[in-house]
Amino acid sequence: MEESDLNKLISKMTIEEKVQLLTGKTFWTTFSNDRLNIPSIFLADGPHGIRKVVGRDSLAMKGIKAICFPTAPALASSWNIDLAKRLGEALGEECISLDVQILLGPGVNQKRSPLCGRNFEYFSEDPILTGQIGTAFVLGVQSMGVGSSIKHYALNNQEYERFSSNSIVDERTMREIYLLAFEMIIKNAKPMTIMCSYNKINGIYASEHNYLIRDILKNEWGYEGFVLSDWMASNDKVESIKNGLDLEMPTKNQFRDDEVISAINKGDLDEKVVNEAVRRVLSVIFKTYKIPNNNISFDIEQHHQLAREIAIESMVLLKNENDILPLDLNEIKKIAILGDFAKNPRYQGAGSSNITSTQLDIPYDCLKNEIGHRIEIKYSQGYNSDTIDDKLIIEAVDIAKHSDVAIIFAGLPPSYESEGIDREHINLPPSHNHLIEEICKVQKKTVVILLNGSCVAMPWIDLPSAIIEAWLLGQACGSAIVDILLGKINPSGKLSETFPIVLEENPSFLNFGERDVIYGERIFIGYRYYEKKKIKPLFPFGFGLSYTTFEYKDITVDKEKITNKSDLNIVITIKNTGNRKGKEIIQVYVRDIESDLIRPIKELKAFKKIELDIGEEKKVKFTLKERDFAYWHPKYKTWIVESGDFEILVGSSSADIRLKKKIKMNSNFMFQIPLFRDSLLKDFFNHSKGRELLNNLFQEALDPDDNENFLEKITKMNMNLINDLPLNKIIDYLFLGKISYAKVDSLLLKLNSDLK
Ligand code: BGC
Repeated sequence: MEESDLNKLISKMTIEEKVQLLTGKTFWTTFSNDRLNIPSIFLADGPHGIRKVVGRDSLAMKGIKAICFPTAPALASSWNIDLAKRLGEALGEECISLDVQILLGPGVNQKRSPLCGRNFEYFSEDPILTGQIGTAFVLGVQSMGVGSSIKHYALNNQEYERFSSNSIVDERTMREIYLLAFEMIIKNAKPMTIMCSYNKINGIYASEHNYLIRDILKNEWGYEGFVLSDWMASNDKVESIKNGLDLEMPTKNQFRDDEVISAINKGDLDEKVVNEAVRRVLSVIFKTYKIPNNNISFDIEQHHQLAREIAIESMVLLKNENDILPLDLNEIKKIAILGDFAKNPRYQGAGSSNITSTQLDIPYDCLKNEIGHRIEIKYSQGYNSDTIDDKLIIEAVDIAKHSDVAIIFAGLPPSYESEGIDREHINLPPSHNHLIEEICKVQKKTVVILLNGSCVAMPWIDLPSAIIEAWLLGQACGSAIVDILLGKINPSGKLSETFPIVLEENPSFLNFGERDVIYGERIFIGYRYYEKKKIKPLFPFGFGLSYTTFEYKDITVDKEKITNKSDLNIVITIKNTGNRKGKEIIQVYVRDIESDLIRPIKELKAFKKIELDIGEEKKVKFTLKERDFAYWHPKYKTWIVESGDFEILVGSSSADIRLKKKIKMNSNFMFQIPLFRDSLLKDFFNHSKGRELLNNLFQEALDPDDNENFLEKITKMNMNLINDLPLNKIIDYLFLGKISYAKVDSLLLKLNSDLK
């Protein structure tokens, strides 16, 4: 509907009708208005499948059947933008066929701590990986005419006291880490809605956060969709509307509506603000609503196969000693399949993202179907709870001892990872750890397959020959795992998060799970922290093995000297040097060699996944832009690029950099900030008019016989010392009263008023 038609429609609405539209009618729907022909739309969870709850207007968890795709960390570990887009398209298609207009996802919060109970719903510890995968996902969903609701805005990184916890964070950390993925998705994919989180940010509820919702999201980023509250996240409806929240979910409460109506009538709430919220909600309703057509259905088998394809690309091969994988069926007669997860796999998270799947590929069954006719496959449960059961262990050990290879399925049971509760540690259940240790004592050829939503500790790391991180892989988990075990497809996933050796090494360890949670590690989350502190993790960010090998060579850049306004093109050559076709994820990191503020050793800025045949080589191009070199300067309240040397690092993981190139940045960035008597000389130098002001000021006070420009003279002195000198110190102690503050103030006043 055109803007003018929307405005006409709004002008016909009574205040009551407007206010009614700003709250859900039921748990999952908006209000319709028969008088004005406004339809109602359905909002459903998300994110890795459709959870359409029908029949009951309550907290019922079970949705109607849909495909359960791999969860967010898995998808992110595929680093495959095209797959993320295809997943979005498939979800969009399912929404249409299930008559859902808004998909509540994806979750794009950063993984600050491995303990966050909801990490299985979030992509990564890195905002660029999150932002790129999230953008593709949303573009895919919305290409089907369905709206996506990215969540949870913002700084929602723990489940402890999730309705009221307070994330205490500085602006730079917020911009560089926690808002960046949201910013990228908002700007590049324009999601129709965004869901605010439950928590407070620096003391203010996300649902009432004017700075986050209005100033940053709507004004700075130009967001045009509507902002909805997480379910029950709105505290005071009047305050929420005032501060930019558009739709409160879930159901209507007349008492809250009355408060809004009375605030409008009393003049406490401007009706224009209400109209603006109504306009945003209506605009999305009319964009997404389609007359229900019960004939539309999606191809269940095709979507299941897509779930399998994503699952295959998501798995990360962490260890593969003596190339034990893929299994060589010519050498193997008996396989021991151990662990309850082989028959009852954990394949999705617990909570609002839980999908009633159309089918489930059980790993044990899939392997049996595939090779059971030629290989003897024996199963033992190994564990049936967290507690070690010696009888089950003895049975498993006996089978493993008499087999040629043992495959153990282990991981985290639902009670260890769930929406609403944080993890207490990163250990596997004792029964899983014990099973792995005991089996490895009798069987050298042991493969461990892990099913979990976020990193786990592996005290037994040296024992098994191979380890596959299979995440929570969705309903096609079994067939996908078998494809990798048998080498039908070469593994190509890489870790979307760092695996620390022990939890205590995680940067947020001392500041997590509290009511007022201080983001004390600031921008140093994930690999940004481990690298800066020189802590070797168990597995680094971006790490993952393949059944083949790749050679990186010939890095070139189109310019070795750039300005912040010019793009930098980088080309590298990559070759498959092994004896299998495979995919490699090439990662480009940027390192700022010297900067005014502390920065990470390096940061991911670009990546590509490339498929190569045996012996094939390809040139791969990356383009970096101004923002890829920038950081958020808290003092100047903007993104800045500093002049100086930068290094472009291209690698196969964050810890395996294969190619490097140094470039010189000549930034013409000039700070447009107010300057004061006590601003530092470097603030003047960096300001477009600052140097001129200093010249004016100093020349006048100098002895006319002194021909040398004062600025030139002092800049010959120790630059660091000069740079850090406040102007008033120079006036007071170098010019000894020759410059009047009246003059200083009038020049500063002029400079600062020119800024406005
Ligand atoms: C969750 C959201 C979810 C909503 C609706 C909330 O508790 O935080 O992510 O979309 O419920 O189920």
